[in-house]
Amino acid sequence: ELNKMPREEGMDHSVSLLREGYMFIPNRRQSLQSDVFETRLLGQKAICMGGKEAAEIFYDHDKFKRAGAAPKRVQQTLFGEKGVQSLDGKVHLHRKNMFMSLMSEVAIKRFVEMNRDEWKKAVDTWLGMDDVILYEEAKKLLCKTACKWAGVPLSSEGLDNRVGELASLFESPSAIGPEHWKGRHNRNQAEKWIGELVEQVREGEILPDEQAALYVISMHKDLEGKLLNTEVAAVEVINILRPIVAIAIYINFTALALHQFPEQKEKLASADDEFMQMFIQEVRRFYPFFPFAAARVKEDFEWKDYTFKKETLTLLDLYGTNHDPGLWDNPSVFNPERFKEQEDSLKFSLIPQGGGSYHDGHRCPGEWITIEAMKVCVDFLVNRISYQIPDQDLSYSLVSIPSIPKSQIKIERIKRK
Ligand code: HEM
Repeated sequence: ELNKMPREEGMDHSVSLLREGYMFIPNRRQSLQSDVFETRLLGQKAICMGGKEAAEIFYDHDKFKRAGAAPKRVQQTLFGEKGVQSLDGKVHLHRKNMFMSLMSEVAIKRFVEMNRDEWKKAVDTWLGMDDVILYEEAKKLLCKTACKWAGVPLSSEGLDNRVGELASLFESPSAIGPEHWKGRHNRNQAEKWIGELVEQVREGEILPDEQAALYVISMHKDLEGKLLNTEVAAVEVINILRPIVAIAIYINFTALALHQFPEQKEKLASADDEFMQMFIQEVRRFYPFFPFAAARVKEDFEWKDYTFKKETLTLLDLYGTNHDPGLWDNPSVFNPERFKEQEDSLKFSLIPQGGGSYHDGHRCPGEWITIEAMKVCVDFLVNRISYQIPDQDLSYSLVSIPSIPKSQIKIERIKRK
């Protein structure tokens, strides 16, 4: 006899999801005393789960699939349609290989050099200014880095528009009303911009570096030997550009951590690469970014004496797993030391960018780049410039998604060290 899954009663809890944001799943895991529970979201039955064991089954592709998992409104803004996020099986594996081929050691080194270069140029302009909003500046310098690295031409006049377009895709992923329409408009604009470039590459009118994403994606052949259609190719190039710009959110949280925990800043000044890595892992664990990942049950199966019915929408608690008291000592304490000699066992527990395997799962292919970009940021903020943080509202919400310090971090009196 199978057990009944702990369940939240009521017609629909979409409103609570909006009201509780990052804490929606963790709150219920706590109150129901269970790492898995059933609820209703978006007019359908849904399973929510969190913790290491839950992450292990969530990334088992005999049990879960991605087709039909992302709500339409999220596809229309954040992800785009028919991109790698929505694929399963062999087709996913083949497309994912293309993404992973962009993440070689050499390619990441090129990214880091370009990113350093953009930080240097940005700092030059900050020196003459009274103050800057770090979030805005970071988005710009990351957009320039992203385009250069991906082989996408970007004029300095076009920069502000492109930053705005790309950022609006992640700044209001599940918005309704005018914000949603703004997001859709910006996705259409971005897809048109990139779609035209894809065509130009195919016609030999522009020739980006052959290792660069624009070239690789434009010339990629699917399992039947066909080029991707233009819209899908544009979605995938944007799947590279958009999240690189989104690293600006982690740059804000990195700056916040340096401010909130000055003793860490001091340690970083003389730290080796190992401590730098530990600090960055802790920033990614500690601060909110993606609240959860979504999938659907592939075939009926049983786990822990509960039945998972085919097609049921299932959310994996990313934020809550990163703060799971069963996995982390004092999860609400910021402590980089917790990562000392722990790297091996993190595959399903440190999951701000998804868990499991990169190549044959949906784990974020941009995780290494994200970490490297954060290292460049730490180096600049700790070793290369000095600055002051005037009085401002540095609080961040655990409700609105994505979260970011309210003031977006104003810094002033910027000097080179
Ligand atoms: C997937 C987070 C940066 C490209 C994901 C997923 C998460 C995530 C949670 C989904 C995992 C899942 O579905 O199980 C983040 C965060 C980032 C970031 C917090 C920090 C800014 C990047 C970067 C790139 C990137 C820099 C590319 C250069 C992708 C792609 C996927 C993905 C293409 C889909 C992979 C697949 O479905 O197989 N990311 N990401 N992300 N990310 Fe990232």
